[in-house]
Amino acid sequence: MTSGHIRIAVLASGGGSNLQAILDHAAVPGAVRAGQVALVASGSTSAGALERARASDVATAVLDDPADGQAMSRLLDAHAIDMVVLAGYLRLVPPQVVRRFPGRILNVHPALLPSFGGHGMYGRRVHEAVIRSGARVSGVTVHFVDEEYDRGPVVAQWPVPVLRGDDAGSLAARVLRAEHMLYPRAVEAVAAGRIRLEGDRVLRDPLAAGDAVPVDVAFGLAADPATAAVDVDRFLDL
Ligand code: GRF
Repeated sequence: MTSGHIRIAVLASGGGSNLQAILDHAAVPGAVRAGQVALVASGSTSAGALERARASDVATAVLDDPADGQAMSRLLDAHAIDMVVLAGYLRLVPPQVVRRFPGRILNVHPALLPSFGGHGMYGRRVHEAVIRSGARVSGVTVHFVDEEYDRGPVVAQWPVPVLRGDDAGSLAARVLRAEHMLYPRAVEAVAAGRIRLEGDRVLRDPLAAGDAVPVDVAFGLAADPATAAVDVDRFLDL
């Protein structure tokens, strides 16, 4: 497969650390990727994501009206975009665009959907709601985007423990580390067709051995490498 033949538009509203993780994953020396970030667009001129795009020589655009599906479609066409990746994008993707990119729009959400998602559940609010609920596990969800906030079929999830003494900031930081590792790989798996949507079902090719995750970012949820066993009491005392 030729590197970068799937042209990706990243939509971002904020700082763009997930965009950066995707750009860095693509830039690993010697890596052959199916996807290539060809455009970064934002509804806000001050989004840090636009700055990061320029620093990587990626085309940028500011959306005058993020609800204008025709304008967004024209923009995506002008850049010959094949796939759309939301990275901290706070607006709903117009239905017209959702319909034009079936199975080719992804989002990352900083909790385990279908809990703690939906309209207005973004940023700190997600982590505050998780902590308030008493949930012991949060995590990252990558999902296909449909016409509702945070609802489409799940591509990948990574559980992250809620630790004693966590506040929204400490939990957000732990979840974000997992986002940065999971999202670029999920984007690439979809770009390469290894994970795909058929109807409303997500199909996955058997995965080749991937990157090993360092034990510290397995967040205590991994099996003991020596015994391949999981100490169940650990789940009572995170
Ligand atoms: C991430 O937590 C992501 O899950 C959520 O918004 C945040 C974006 O952060 N959708 P960044 O702009 O990628 O740094």
